[in-house]
Amino acid sequence: MPIVDVALSTVGRVNQLPTIPPFPVSRMRRLRRTPALRKLASDISVRPADLILPMFVAEGLSEPRPISSMPGVLQHTSDSLVKAAIEAVQAGVGGLMLFGVPTTKDAVGSGADDPNGVLNAGLARLKFELGDSTVLMADLCLDEFTDHGHCGVLAVDGSVDNDATLERYAAMALAQAEAGADLLGTSGMMDGQVGVVRRALDGVQRSEVGVLAYAPKYASAFYGPFREAVDSSLVGDRQAYQQDPSRGVNEALAEVALDVAEGADVVMVKPALPYLDVLSAVAASSPVPVAAYQVSGEYAMVEAAAERGWIDRERAIAETLLSIRRAGASMILTYWAVEHASRQS
Ligand code: PBG
Repeated sequence: MPIVDVALSTVGRVNQLPTIPPFPVSRMRRLRRTPALRKLASDISVRPADLILPMFVAEGLSEPRPISSMPGVLQHTSDSLVKAAIEAVQAGVGGLMLFGVPTTKDAVGSGADDPNGVLNAGLARLKFELGDSTVLMADLCLDEFTDHGHCGVLAVDGSVDNDATLERYAAMALAQAEAGADLLGTSGMMDGQVGVVRRALDGVQRSEVGVLAYAPKYASAFYGPFREAVDSSLVGDRQAYQQDPSRGVNEALAEVALDVAEGADVVMVKPALPYLDVLSAVAASSPVPVAAYQVSGEYAMVEAAAERGWIDRERAIAETLLSIRRAGASMILTYWAVEHASRQS
């Protein structure tokens, strides 16, 4: 299947609508009449293999720990991580994105490139257990590992130092490649991060390891529950490096162009639902596959409303995933990956 079906793309076809005969010759309800007709007419679907499951592995736990703002999502121990990952692969999920939750943090996020750090050890374990049966991805960012919670290292004035952070990302990339990651998820929103990671990998003959670049990534309120998921120590916000939701789509396209020029193998739009316009524009022009991240707050909203009986949970989940696919994502990161995949098969 092409990255975006021509029929799926809404961009640029506003003036090219085909003419159809008017009512009563045309009756749009004809193809809606029975379940069989609707099934036949349906042209958008979310395959299990299109889904990527984000997972959290935490240090120092004796058993998996629930994340209260994300009902059904867990911080895993090394053992429960393996078990859940195997279940996800058996359900047909296309890939796993791993985040690490360390017990100790410091100013430069030393745990991030420590081969024995929680994330790299988790990756190595998953690679050992799963081999190439799935696509193993890793979050390449410092925020889980720094005591101040920012995505990079700080300058003396307290701002996030872009270029000093790039050096840390290069070190992380090498550690994650060594641990067995297939794709590195550069999520920190430092300028130049994709190029630095690409050069670091190529410099040690790891040209087969790819970059899944968070290209447009907005400073979003919808990351709220994730901060609990990774025990974030952040005070303040990330508005000085993540994108401003009040900027238009052109900025997002510039981010994509830069990341592709720096060597991104996949570009990702994040969050998904509040940015379907951005996703649609990126999908219409990207030369590389496009992913979208249905983030923690998107998950929490549906779960919370469903818990109160205010919304039909399963239908709402399916509808959100379809909307993301319809907007043009060929891969979707979602905390519902296993559940949705199981329902499809
Ligand atoms: C950065 C990162 C974040 C998320 C994914 N990678 C947090 C942030 O940017 O503040 C959020 C994912 C989610 O909310 O589900 N390491």
